[in-house]
Amino acid sequence: MKNITVIGSGTMGNGIAHTFAQFGYNVSLVDIKQEFLDKAISTITKNIDRQVAKGKITEADKENTLKNITTFIKLDEGSKNADLVVEAATENVELKLNIFRELDKICKPEAILSSNTSSISITQIASVTKRADKVIGMHFMNPVPLMKLVEVIRGKETSDEVTKVVMETSKKLNKIPVEVNDAPGFVANRILMPMINEAVFTLHEGVAGVEEIDTVMKLGMAHPMGPLQLADFIGLDVCLSIQQVLFEGFNSSKYSPCPLLEEMVKAGQLGVKSGSGFYNYTAGNKDLVLADRFKI
Ligand SMILES: NC(=O)c1ccc[n+]([C@@H]2O[C@H](COP(=O)([O-])OP(=O)(O)OC[C@H]3O[C@@H](n4cnc5c(N)ncnc54)[C@H](O)[C@@H]3O)[C@@H](O)[C@H]2O)c1
Repeated sequence: MKNITVIGSGTMGNGIAHTFAQFGYNVSLVDIKQEFLDKAISTITKNIDRQVAKGKITEADKENTLKNITTFIKLDEGSKNADLVVEAATENVELKLNIFRELDKICKPEAILSSNTSSISITQIASVTKRADKVIGMHFMNPVPLMKLVEVIRGKETSDEVTKVVMETSKKLNKIPVEVNDAPGFVANRILMPMINEAVFTLHEGVAGVEEIDTVMKLGMAHPMGPLQLADFIGLDVCLSIQQVLFEGFNSSKYSPCPLLEEMVKAGQLGVKSGSGFYNYTAGNKDLVLADRFKI
């Protein structure tokens, strides 16, 4: 296990590429536009600079980590040598199925194909390949370089051997893998996303304001950040996609997405990545600033 291909260089993809590169793997980072890849490399560089400033790694580690990452805008060039692929493209079923169809043709027969999907069925993704035994979920948490958990999801046909390799590889990244079975939202998002959706309903119905809801959950439940701030960090579009997968997967109104969440996504208010969600975000400002529309 030496050559890792990461597909998608957004919030998760750049963190996954950073982490593998830091632990000495050769990383090929693939996205659809060079400007997205350039932005990812600049984000990775800033995040490594922070690690250097905190004394966690040295300048030499920084150089080595950056040297280990090569960027590609063509899937075939970026994936043909992969031992392990971690797909972290946009959370959309058709898009992911297309990527896996292509990967199955491009990659070496022994390559393991994993997805960082938050909620889409690994068994369904595996079904479009001819190597369902080598398809698995590798669900990293945001921000990847800091968060310890990797939720390892076994599809119906994922082999014991592939699961073992992925668990071991996760440990080599200094992470703690937890093996779970395939079901909508797996464990993490089956529990987290209904909580976030309920927080948005609580706001939508006027039970309390953004800051009040987040404060109740921070101080009352000892959560490190409130659910609405967390939604901004995850990306409201990602939250909505996951909630839709739960809604459709369980066929239950219990999971129906809050109209306010749908409306904010339509308006492009996606949270940190768009600069505005429940709060406003400007580079260099760490204070929590309430978004204008939620000011009373
Ligand atoms: N955001 C989170 O906190 C979080 C946490 C865990 C898992 N995830 C999952 O990780 C995946 C990525 O989420 P994200 O938040 O990084 O999204 P994002 O929107 O920040 O990034 C997605 C990236 O994928 C790229 N992309 C789209 N189609 C592509 C293609 N055909 N080939 C290559 N690249 C392509 C986009 O250009 C974009 O750069 C999703 O499956 C999501 O559910 C997200």
